[in-house]
Amino acid sequence: MIRPFTYLNVATSLDGKITTAARDLIGFGGPEDQDRMDQLRAGADAVMIGAGTLRAEDPLLTVRSGERIAARLAAGRSAQPVAIVVSRRLDLPLAGSAFFAAPGVERWLATAADLPPGPAAAYADHAVILPVPARPDGALDLADLLQALHRRGIRKLLVEGGGQLNFSLLAAGLIDEIHLTLCPLLFGGDRAPTAFEGAGLSAATIRTLELISLERGAESRLFLRYRLCPPSAA
Ligand SMILES: NC(=O)c1ccc[n+]([C@@H]2O[C@H](COP(=O)([O-])OP(=O)(O)OC[C@H]3O[C@@H](n4cnc5c(N)ncnc54)[C@H](OP(=O)(O)O)[C@@H]3O)[C@@H](O)[C@H]2O)c1
Repeated sequence: MIRPFTYLNVATSLDGKITTAARDLIGFGGPEDQDRMDQLRAGADAVMIGAGTLRAEDPLLTVRSGERIAARLAAGRSAQPVAIVVSRRLDLPLAGSAFFAAPGVERWLATAADLPPGPAAAYADHAVILPVPARPDGALDLADLLQALHRRGIRKLLVEGGGQLNFSLLAAGLIDEIHLTLCPLLFGGDRAPTAFEGAGLSAATIRTLELISLERGAESRLFLRYRLCPPSAA
């Protein structure tokens, strides 16, 4: 299958949570994590999130560093990566949204091909709608989406969560690398989402990873970069 190189960036507590049970917006990765995220975005043709993350955080998904933007332009790339949201229902906040108002950012909404035209029309002035076939379980076929992204020129795709989208990609075998900021915090809570939610993998399909790099940051944070091993090696 021809698809973009797909790398995921996530910050977790020591117990693997991506936020608290109350889903507080606590930005726990710290300034080094922010800078690494900016660097990863600068290397991406597109940055993709799930609708839950858009609803919770209203992120811009933009490169902030002027030097990195200049380097992109000098290399003949757009100033900003394309911002992509995956949403089956397409019930996304428009009014007051920083994401939909951000200037100079191309926005694509990946949604169900069988969705009635009404909901998609509401976003037509703000984003390009990408129709994606749904699988029998109702979820979008992300392999189909990634192939469509490749046809549209996306070669490096950064995924920034959340847990449901991450798991959908993992289960479909569509993640190549994971950049993990491991934070010395404990959140607990069986309702606090982890980096990979969904139904979970079976013993026969769990994935193994190979460590590419490990750096120690300030305040006992660890920056880990892993490559997914081929499924057969699991
Ligand atoms: N610590 C971190 O690094 C980090 C990173 C990102 C997010 N977060 C946190 O994680 C939480 C959000 O995570 P989440 O797991 O609830 O949400 P999510 O994965 O961002 O979004 C889930 C939604 O995305 C859509 N979606 C995902 N996969 C899909 C598929 N295969 N087919 C169709 N639609 C799909 C659906 O949207 P519709 O409902 O619209 O159909 C689904 O309800 C927030 O609290 C956020 O702050 C933390």
